[in-house]
Amino acid sequence: MALKLTAYEQEMLDGKHGEAKQLAMKIMVKIGEPLGAEEMVEVVSVQAMAHFGSLHIAGRDYLGRLACMGGKCCVPTTQDPASIPFDTWEEMGYDKEYAENQMKLCDSIMKLGEYHAWSCTPYVQGSVPRLGQNVAWAESSAVSYANSVLGARTNRTPAGLAVCAALTGRIPKFGLYFPENRKAQVKVNVDAGPLSDLDYNTIGIIIGKRVGNYIPAIYGIPASATNDNLKYLGACAASSGSVALWHAVGVTPEALYGDPFEGREPINEFTITRDMLTETEKSLCTKNPGEIDLYVTGCPHSSTQEVTKLAHLMEGRRVKEGKDMWIFTTAETNNMLKRSGVIQKMEAAGVRMMVQTCLVISPLVGNGKYKTLITDSGKNASYLPSEHGIELVYASMEDCVAAVTEAV
Ligand code: F3S
Repeated sequence: MALKLTAYEQEMLDGKHGEAKQLAMKIMVKIGEPLGAEEMVEVVSVQAMAHFGSLHIAGRDYLGRLACMGGKCCVPTTQDPASIPFDTWEEMGYDKEYAENQMKLCDSIMKLGEYHAWSCTPYVQGSVPRLGQNVAWAESSAVSYANSVLGARTNRTPAGLAVCAALTGRIPKFGLYFPENRKAQVKVNVDAGPLSDLDYNTIGIIIGKRVGNYIPAIYGIPASATNDNLKYLGACAASSGSVALWHAVGVTPEALYGDPFEGREPINEFTITRDMLTETEKSLCTKNPGEIDLYVTGCPHSSTQEVTKLAHLMEGRRVKEGKDMWIFTTAETNNMLKRSGVIQKMEAAGVRMMVQTCLVISPLVGNGKYKTLITDSGKNASYLPSEHGIELVYASMEDCVAAVTEAV
């Protein structure tokens, strides 16, 4: 069935509002029709992608072409972390050609009018859609947070489509844009006693593996769970499975009141116990804790609260000779904590702040320098061993800090 367009959308498709909008509309109509979309929805924000590690030459040239055509974002648009740290790539030994390709992508998104955000946590950078608002976000952890914690509506938008949505403010209406497609399907009970920060990661890993792309309703998450706890739960469920929306009963907005199944029977039900959490933690380690080269944290990007907690753990300690500790975060968190001197203290103790970038989509490990890393991020644990051929230990933030630092 042909997509029904409004008069303005038809004008964009006919080229009356410029070449870039026309190309964007053509792409969306071509993709939307086979997906069964009958119309477009207006979106209030876009989380796009512009990292060379995933977009490669084809993506670089695609964004470059839209920029040369004079394309301009018409809704607030942010983008995922870059594949290099912009300020320190040279001293860290990135390949020059690789870095130049990332810079070209950076030039293009600036011309297109995207914000210089470079983070997978746009919701801590001011991009905060309200309950029920439609957005077009890419990057699975951001999508999970937007849908589940904020109650906004988005599918897992492919990178090529997200920029089209940014240029037109529209996206084909299908999937999670329909309220009836947002009801819970699988019932998950959490019965594991008090939950640590690491537990939220592990719960997400178990849920993703068990439910795939179904929508779980999770019972047993306390209302005191922090936004960071929910960020990790969602990021992990999205990476070990492909969960784009989950409900925590009594916690997340679409499951605060009433029945998240709306009277329908769950298609499956299971309980997460303390034993399951312990067993899953062990299974995420590719080797036993021992000689560790590097601690990485901040996947998704560390919040101000998390970096502050790390700073407290680092008090009276420094990174051991021959080991490294990297914190991945936003420019905003880094700048805020610089103003209070926190970052300077950690850097003096040997910590490296990795700003606006991401280890998974960067060639930084896997080059032989590091053999074993330790992390408190379940998403890092899901991806890094296979993506970068490295041994990995999964542990709490406290254990990670202890593994690579010593008292001074
Ligand atoms: Fe963010 Fe990269 Fe992890 S985009 S969620 S830091 S894989």
